[in-house]
Amino acid sequence: MTDRIGVLGSGSYTPSRVMTNADWSALIDTTDEWIVTRTGIHERRFAADDETTLDLAANAAEKALADAGLTADDLDEIIVASDTPEVYTPDTAAYLQHRLGAREITAYDLGGSGCAGFVLALDIAKTRVQAVSKRILVVGVELISRLMNWTDRATCVLFGDAAGAVVIGSGAGVKAELLAVTAGTDGSAADILTLETGGTRRPFSLAEAKKGGQHDIVMNGREVYRQAVHRMSEAAEKVLAQAGRLKEEIALVIPHQANLRIIDAVRSKLGLREEQVYVNVDRYGNTGSATVPLALDEARREGRIDPGDLVVLTAFGAGFHWAAAALQF
Ligand code: UT7
Repeated sequence: MTDRIGVLGSGSYTPSRVMTNADWSALIDTTDEWIVTRTGIHERRFAADDETTLDLAANAAEKALADAGLTADDLDEIIVASDTPEVYTPDTAAYLQHRLGAREITAYDLGGSGCAGFVLALDIAKTRVQAVSKRILVVGVELISRLMNWTDRATCVLFGDAAGAVVIGSGAGVKAELLAVTAGTDGSAADILTLETGGTRRPFSLAEAKKGGQHDIVMNGREVYRQAVHRMSEAAEKVLAQAGRLKEEIALVIPHQANLRIIDAVRSKLGLREEQVYVNVDRYGNTGSATVPLALDEARREGRIDPGDLVVLTAFGAGFHWAAAALQF
């Protein structure tokens, strides 16, 4: 029998600066009432001026290592899921390898898969543990406040900065077995949710930057909403079937935290009660690829997960990409 593969430890980090809806309504034409009714978000965290993506990632990673009872020396691979990297090249994983003091191991970013990045990385990590590496650090991190357009009210109020991390491995230290992971892509809708800046289609240029608007997140909110509900519930059902488990066995679903209405719609499609779905979008907003590992770590530390619990992670993001994972605690 092969060893169980799963989560050895988790950790998360949120910056201390709180940005409330009232703070936003002092800056742009919005209201607390609009934001809360449409999204369920009350506040989000923004990185301090001297914090970068690497700082967020390293803080979460160190906590995940400590929770696993490991040190950076024990890592065989690092994957960082982020669409807001430290610099354009090299990837954040290279900086993180050095910051943590890890050995000269394989380290790479999974970029561009938006909010689905972390769960997608779990899929890779599981098979990599099976085939090659013993212990893999998987980080979901986003520092979006510095890259978004602070005057576009349709997008800026939605996002926050955070990082979450897990160490994936096998053997006796596994706290939650990764029973199954599923992932999918529909690139036909790629232009519905994009941040074009910096690619060859729309290279960085000083002239463009001076005109402003280069950092606009292009988003058809309604279509993203519709797709998110459909894909996240479908992925959750698929991963359960893959794991040979039933909806009735679910103890907790940890969905990507973009919007409380999306989460509620996924919950009702899956036929779950409110207490079976973890929510922290009210406190952090949409932190991209960090939402799922942050919520997983908080749920564990708040005692929301008991030994024996079946937990389902499900995420959706730009691409469109989606991914879900079934975890047996
Ligand atoms: O992780 C993936 C990332 N993206 C998402 O998850 C987004 C998914 N979509 C959504 O969450 C929702 O579509 C939104 C929260 C973005 C928007 O909610 P909606 O119910 O779809 O509203 P809407 O876009 O249809 O806009 C309704 C109105 C518009 O005014 P008019 O045209 O009806 O007069 C907007 O201009 O709300 C207006 N509006 C705002 N008003 C106050 C848009 N943003 C704001 C704002 N404050 N911040």
